[in-house]
Amino acid sequence: MCLYKNIGDGALFIIKKFAALIALLGFSLLLAACSREADSNVLRLAHNMTTDHPVHIAMVDMGERLEVLSGGEMSIQIYSGGQLGKEREVIELLQIGAIAMTKVSTISMSGFSEDMRVFSVPYIFENNAHYWRVLNGPVGQDILGSLEPALLKGLGFYDAGSRSFYMTDGPIRTPADLKGKKIRVQPSRASIDMVKALGGSATPISWGELYTALQQGVVDGAENNSPSYYISKHYETAKYYSLDEHTSVPDLIIISAKVWQGLSAQEQGWLSEAMAQSSLKQREQWAKASKDALEKVAKAGVEIIYPDKKPFQDAVKGLKASHDGSRIGDLLERIAAEAQTEAPSP
Ligand code: GCU
Repeated sequence: MCLYKNIGDGALFIIKKFAALIALLGFSLLLAACSREADSNVLRLAHNMTTDHPVHIAMVDMGERLEVLSGGEMSIQIYSGGQLGKEREVIELLQIGAIAMTKVSTISMSGFSEDMRVFSVPYIFENNAHYWRVLNGPVGQDILGSLEPALLKGLGFYDAGSRSFYMTDGPIRTPADLKGKKIRVQPSRASIDMVKALGGSATPISWGELYTALQQGVVDGAENNSPSYYISKHYETAKYYSLDEHTSVPDLIIISAKVWQGLSAQEQGWLSEAMAQSSLKQREQWAKASKDALEKVAKAGVEIIYPDKKPFQDAVKGLKASHDGSRIGDLLERIAAEAQTEAPSP
């Protein structure tokens, strides 16, 4: 009886998987067919944020710039709010050329490029100028280039500030307060290690499912920059925001290598230029968006805590040292060396 049931479930499972595969294939083919319409040169860009998020606004700006630069020959059509899938799913659709572009967190790319893990290491940038010097310099270029074997091309970075803890049941003032707390992390090994090193218990959940997870107590808290914390309305449930600013994880604009290779050199130039211009504008806007978000959550009754960062920095020394001698260790050394240079951020 039990065996029969198991065989039945197994068969059902295979049928369901097969049906899902066929559906995904059909969907991918459909998207592939229209990811870049030959007559209108529309590049489809999917991401998981809402349309009021500063990165969405920056991508709209990139699209407008592209239209102007190309004299109306090229444009970007944006699908926001995870309509076309979670970050990882969309990346996979880019790999087969079914979607042209996406905006993802660099951490979501760590399953595709080892280099991206470097952003999960806490407290590696001294300040904003150091951060941008690294991203716009040779280290940033190498990190973007590391996506090539994954059939992806990194076009550039967007500011995503720094990530701090927000909790439903009380403030985090020291790493000891994280003990026994279930903290949502981005679904990646690198984020799990980061929260573990800081003392919390990491629970990977996709961004779109986090609001409910906080509400239902699946997790006690999460971590993100202030615009994302505010716009996602997570502050309605998680009313303690501790600005320990443990990691600075940039957002990344990527294009499918397949789609990129299908563009002429002139079209590639227009797109790269639109990206560069919109990245500069986005950096300016990010600072204001972060400040506004903090003011808004405070008004809504959130307690904002400014903890002493030293105990947090001490707690992750072991994590940093564990990378010594590895590719990430090498990147960490190069990033630290950039802090010593006086050159202004490009
Ligand atoms: C940031 C990032 C998103 C990411 C999110 C997350 O807000 O910009 O791309 O999805 O963090 O924590 O999942």
